[in-house]
Amino acid sequence: MPKDFLTVADWSAEELLGLLARAQELRSLHRAGQRPQTLQGRTLAMYFEKPSLRTHVTFEAGIAQLGGHAIVLRPDQVGIGTRESALDVALNLSLWIDGLMARTFSHELVEQLAEHAAIPVINGLTDRLHPCQAMADLQTIANLMNPRDATICYVGDGNNVVSSLILLAAVLGMRCRVATPSSHRPPSWVDKKAAELGAVSGAEISWFEDPESAVEGADFIYTDTWTSMGQEEEAEERRKVFAPYQVNRRLVARAPKAWLMHCLPAHREEEITGEMLDGDRSLIYEQAENRLHAQKAILERVMRPEGVE
Ligand code: CP
Ligand code: NVA
Repeated sequence: MPKDFLTVADWSAEELLGLLARAQELRSLHRAGQRPQTLQGRTLAMYFEKPSLRTHVTFEAGIAQLGGHAIVLRPDQVGIGTRESALDVALNLSLWIDGLMARTFSHELVEQLAEHAAIPVINGLTDRLHPCQAMADLQTIANLMNPRDATICYVGDGNNVVSSLILLAAVLGMRCRVATPSSHRPPSWVDKKAAELGAVSGAEISWFEDPESAVEGADFIYTDTWTSMGQEEEAEERRKVFAPYQVNRRLVARAPKAWLMHCLPAHREEEITGEMLDGDRSLIYEQAENRLHAQKAILERVMRPEGVE
């Protein structure tokens, strides 16, 4: 098992399914009012270069519910690369605490922190990937059907969220369609890695330029913001490029039985209409809820790799 949780592509299908099973168990326990103290006395540092509601609250609440606690680090306090190097930050944190969750712009930075730290590092979103979101989404899908029987169709920008979704599908052998403008396809390294993993798992990953043909017969239609954090200056241009990719009544009519997904935060009437987001096929709050349980399973797994039994 890898020391860190930087990308689902580093974990085997068996390991990811083990995390899913534990996340399901933790959700049942949580709903029954039980809080297993599996990380009693352990400390998680959380480093945020970008804003967050879900990741911040679910990691901080999650570690507390497991008996540990969290410290929030701001980039202006720590000054990685200005006040001191990533190497020294990683080595110092390893002396005092048991895990680090980092949300950074550069994916290379979480990789550097993980390489130098003796403690596990969890990717809480980078410009390239959002693996914790993918695990919560897997749990959401698994509550409705066997993920390997599902057809998931992502519509919109080829960003960090869909990159992790594609890699998850590739590890687990799932069917995933991706509809983006040709100018905003997921990066080619994701295609390459997914093809490599898919050759073993039997995953079917396909790209479409036309969202209407992509969603036909889908069980899940997933979208995300057209403008990710750090791309705000491109927002106006992006609204034009992605306009044909809005998830709305007309598009969903092509897959009337599909469940609708969004990792949030959402921009109603941009990537998805309010009517669809708030409608009875929407899974958005279940996805958000599952962030808590999926991440508690990840925290346990990396902070107590010897097991919790
Ligand atoms: N989906 C997600 O990661 O939300 P936050 O940006 O609020 O953490
Ligand atoms: N793609 C979005 C996800 C936010 C959770 C972003 O990176 O801003």
